[in-house]
Amino acid sequence: MTEQISEGLSQTTIAELHELAGRYPQARSALLPMLHLVQADQGRVTAEGIGVCGQILGLTEAEVSAVATFYTMYKRRPMGTHHVGVCTNTLCAVMGGDEIFERLCGHLDVGNDETSEDGRITLEKVECNAACDFAPVMMVNWEFFDNQTPESAVEVVDRLRAGEAVQSTRGATITSWREAERVIAGFEDGLVDEGPAAGPASLVGLEIADERGWAAPPLEASGTEAAPESTTEAVAEADTSRAGSETVADQSPADVEGGKDPDESEGTHD
Ligand code: FES
Repeated sequence: MTEQISEGLSQTTIAELHELAGRYPQARSALLPMLHLVQADQGRVTAEGIGVCGQILGLTEAEVSAVATFYTMYKRRPMGTHHVGVCTNTLCAVMGGDEIFERLCGHLDVGNDETSEDGRITLEKVECNAACDFAPVMMVNWEFFDNQTPESAVEVVDRLRAGEAVQSTRGATITSWREAERVIAGFEDGLVDEGPAAGPASLVGLEIADERGWAAPPLEASGTEAAPESTTEAVAEADTSRAGSETVADQSPADVEGGKDPDESEGTHD
């Protein structure tokens, strides 16, 4: 259990907010993940969270609020246990996204950006999920549910409401929106490499390239490793890269001043 030192934010969260600020050469660069961590703790971006982020980063509440109200992933109203986002952008809409959204509205008795009475599901229209080759797409806590139908979408939300284990079609087992927000903030949960990284529709181009012997030109100047030679290798590499990008977070570009290894330079953050 975490000790509460204020109305809402735990001492642990406040320490982690400082940790996030320390990951960047300029502390204010940490504002986006810090706001996600506030959401992980409090289920939304609260006035308290805005104030604490501002204090840590030397920003005014107006500056933090400007960010928190600009991006749609930051929520100012309490969220349900799960966030269900139905893509209603053009391709998904014509492939059935509008129908899925309307069916879920009726099934959950909510409108856009509202939470079901049992507090389990917050439903939102989202555009675009960058997964158009799997349209119509739904996301649960930012994990993909590809090629949905009104019936499959209803089944997913019913299983979530019943507390059953639900697996993303192209990603990890569903946890909760708050847990997902903590991962987005930069605190991994060990599930990052669970599930397939790419689905068949995304691999069509690679398969055609394999058949025809096409390959990307070597990137000798940048020192980048050679491109994978087959679809199988490409998928395996995608998985490895995804896990690697999480596990080397301490040495990500955001942590490296002027492109140097952090061990070679003094941190300049507060
Ligand atoms: S239009 Fe829905 S994922 Fe792109």
